[in-house]
Amino acid sequence: MINTPKTTHSEWSSRFAFILAATGSAVGLGNIWKFPYITGQNGGGAFVLVYLGCVLALGIPIMIAEIMLGRRGHLSPVNSMQSLAIEAGADSRWRYLGWLGMIAGFLILAYYSVIAGWSMAYISKAFFGSFFSSDASDIKNLFDDLMQSPIQQIFWHTVFMLITLQVVMRGVKGGLEKAVQLLMPALFFILLILVGYAMTSGAYNEGIKFLFSPDFSKINANAVLTAMGHAFFTLSLGMGSIMVYGSYLPKHISIAKTTFVIAGADTIVALLAGIAIFPLVFANQLEVGSGPGLIFQTLPLAFGKMGGGWLFGVLFFVLLFLAALTSSISLIEPTIAWLEESHQWDRKKACIWAGSGCWLLGIAVVFSFNIWSGHKLFDKNLFELLDYLTANLMLPLGGLAIAWFAGRIMKTRDSAQELEMPESDYKIWQFLIQYVSPAAVFLVFLHVLGVF
Ligand code: TRP
Repeated sequence: MINTPKTTHSEWSSRFAFILAATGSAVGLGNIWKFPYITGQNGGGAFVLVYLGCVLALGIPIMIAEIMLGRRGHLSPVNSMQSLAIEAGADSRWRYLGWLGMIAGFLILAYYSVIAGWSMAYISKAFFGSFFSSDASDIKNLFDDLMQSPIQQIFWHTVFMLITLQVVMRGVKGGLEKAVQLLMPALFFILLILVGYAMTSGAYNEGIKFLFSPDFSKINANAVLTAMGHAFFTLSLGMGSIMVYGSYLPKHISIAKTTFVIAGADTIVALLAGIAIFPLVFANQLEVGSGPGLIFQTLPLAFGKMGGGWLFGVLFFVLLFLAALTSSISLIEPTIAWLEESHQWDRKKACIWAGSGCWLLGIAVVFSFNIWSGHKLFDKNLFELLDYLTANLMLPLGGLAIAWFAGRIMKTRDSAQELEMPESDYKIWQFLIQYVSPAAVFLVFLHVLGVF
């Protein structure tokens, strides 16, 4: 069935506004919470190197492709894919790629909101001085208490979800463009202060060594898959977030240059977070592989001891919350845009329905940290399962399909016209997207399946 979607599409006010929004989407819990703990679990330097390789070989070319598809389609991902497929004379079922993305976004947001809720719980802990005169085991207990309390977690998850929906309901342009403009530099600044603290905390060299000296014996098929999945996750690729943001992008803005700015900022924030965290892990004999609690069990130690720690503690978790917010809205935006276009729902109704579903699934995620922690499927609790399914499978598959479409289905004439790159740069991009990106995703999957 082919709907005739109404084009209610607005546009970003400038290239800079788009950069901010897309950077806001990319920089989030993935950089500050997830990158350090998965690096810890996967042995450090070699993992970081594989991740950086994936950002270059997959992330950047696919981000260019995804923004391009969005801008040319000029609709929600489902409808953009359908109209681009028709334009290219291909099967209109390419729209299912949009569906895959909406489902992935829904599943990610369910657990993303729970973790963002933790960061809000930590704003209040920082504010009430819980980090002072605490040693590593007090700080660990603080985190364990939160994990064991479904009520606390559900409370903060609910608050975070309501705030996300409030913002999305009002449209992304109003408050957000302005907010991100202030917040991103502030986040950067506080990270630099934490890096400064880590440099003087004793185990700086050990932390840096862990992060940057590769030991490939620690890496296995699953670590490579995790690194690849994370490259997609941290850049918000493979599910339509960046596509829908691209659909609001005015013509004649250079997609490639813009992509480098976004991916560069995202990578720098992740590396700074790692540099701030690992020295503290080693100085306090904490477990590098302790998992999702890592930043919550390390950074408060620094805040408890440093001068001005109260202020920086509160500010840091406020900024983490805001970074999560500018990402969470992009997780739900493809669905909202589609409900508006194809079903003529107003934004409010769309937010209420889509948001309630995510919220309910989020409650199950909360339980997976406590009362249901024993319930496992494939040896994973619900949180781990959702994370694996989305980041390691759905996003790389979505990215592969985006690369395939942009490089092999869409007419070269159309993509060249949309990208407006110098001929030689275009050729490099085309080569990456036609051969390198699909082959890389494919090889990693084969490797995980044990084929070689
Ligand atoms: N990139 C965000 C982060 O690192 C999360 C995110 C937002 C995302 N939109 C996405 C991840 C789309 C995957 C796909 O926190």
